[in-house]
Amino acid sequence: MKKKIGWRFKGNEIRYLTKVLKNDFSAGSDASMTEKFEKKFAKIHNQKFAIASNSGTSTLHQALLSIGVGHGHEVIIPALTVAMCGFAVWQCGAVPVYADVDEYSFLIDPKDIEKKITKKTKAIMVVHTYGLMCDMDAILKIADKYKINVLEDCAQCFLGKDHKNRISGTVGSIGSWSLESSKHISSGEGGILTTNNAHFAKIMRKYGTLGFKNITAQNGKVRISRDKFQDPNWERHDQFGYNYRLSEICSAVALAQTEKINIFVKKRVEAGNAFLRFIKKSKTSLLIPQEIKKNYKHTFYTFACVFNGESRGISWQSFRKKFIENGGDGIYAAWKTVNNEPCFADVRKNGLFSGNMKISKSYGWGETPVAINLQKKIMQFTTNQRNKKEIKKQILALKKTLEFYE
Ligand SMILES: Cc1ncc(COP(=O)(O)O)c(C=O)c1O
Repeated sequence: MKKKIGWRFKGNEIRYLTKVLKNDFSAGSDASMTEKFEKKFAKIHNQKFAIASNSGTSTLHQALLSIGVGHGHEVIIPALTVAMCGFAVWQCGAVPVYADVDEYSFLIDPKDIEKKITKKTKAIMVVHTYGLMCDMDAILKIADKYKINVLEDCAQCFLGKDHKNRISGTVGSIGSWSLESSKHISSGEGGILTTNNAHFAKIMRKYGTLGFKNITAQNGKVRISRDKFQDPNWERHDQFGYNYRLSEICSAVALAQTEKINIFVKKRVEAGNAFLRFIKKSKTSLLIPQEIKKNYKHTFYTFACVFNGESRGISWQSFRKKFIENGGDGIYAAWKTVNNEPCFADVRKNGLFSGNMKISKSYGWGETPVAINLQKKIMQFTTNQRNKKEIKKQILALKKTLEFYE
């Protein structure tokens, strides 16, 4: 069989990488790859500040810290998301409180957010799951009412838009992205944050860069004269910090990927729309796609549907197997809801949280019946095909699979 050759990282990725290595990681008088990547990403999003980081979990942690999340605080997160959203809250020593999701859009339900707000709520983390933006108008209305900051987790949503043409990650206080290998653009591992708030930008950068005193909102490099810096009396750190810096190697790749971001997003949108068109045409009741509100631009990290086969005696696993037999790439399951991942569920049972922080068993973590029911039924089809021919192959595999069962 002919070996599939990689197509996502050709071009400037290799050129920029080579430059970093040839220059012994020194940018010389030129800006570093990280600086260039940050500038480009900020410009595309029309934001004042962008801060590169080593993962989309680190970015969430940095963002929450900048908002001031710490011990004794609660952060509202959707139940239907990756555990990393909960981990970032735990890393701050705070408690995730789970909001339910909407049955049709699979996204955090603003009405449930408001129900879960308490005096301890310090932030709301919304997640634009599968590439579709949440209802930011309703969410910001609640946030403004209670004076709480909103963090947008856009790990799965690059250049998504809502009905007001606002870009994902630019509506709340801070936007956060992951550059892990399955994402629209990638540097293998990595992440980036954007904001228009200089205070948040400075704190996020400082936490991610070991708390160096001279870090500014704009710049990750400590630019001071050597005579001053190389002095035994020079004090370097005025804040505790983490080393979440993105390496120059990853930044080189991330910069080249950002230059082509529109192409990558367009490809996913093409694949997502092909699935959508086919499912509408097929009139199948086995798969119900994620609902997209009018004038929203879905960026289709994956094409997500509710699978209704179980009530008709078709198991989730057998459908997936048949799809693969028919030439399909595979189908991803939804992650367990965060509140049902053992690490979080055990805490709830035992009444313990975050090391030295004790939480009673009756703590109001938030019930999320819709998310728990949906999670078992969600099927995600891949949208990272290289070209129209590969997309067609997926649609044909789905056609054959539906014909087999219907
Ligand atoms: C919605 C969401 N948030 C956060 C993350 C964490 O990103 P990373 O894997 O880069 O730490 C991911 C990535 O898998 C994600 O999909």
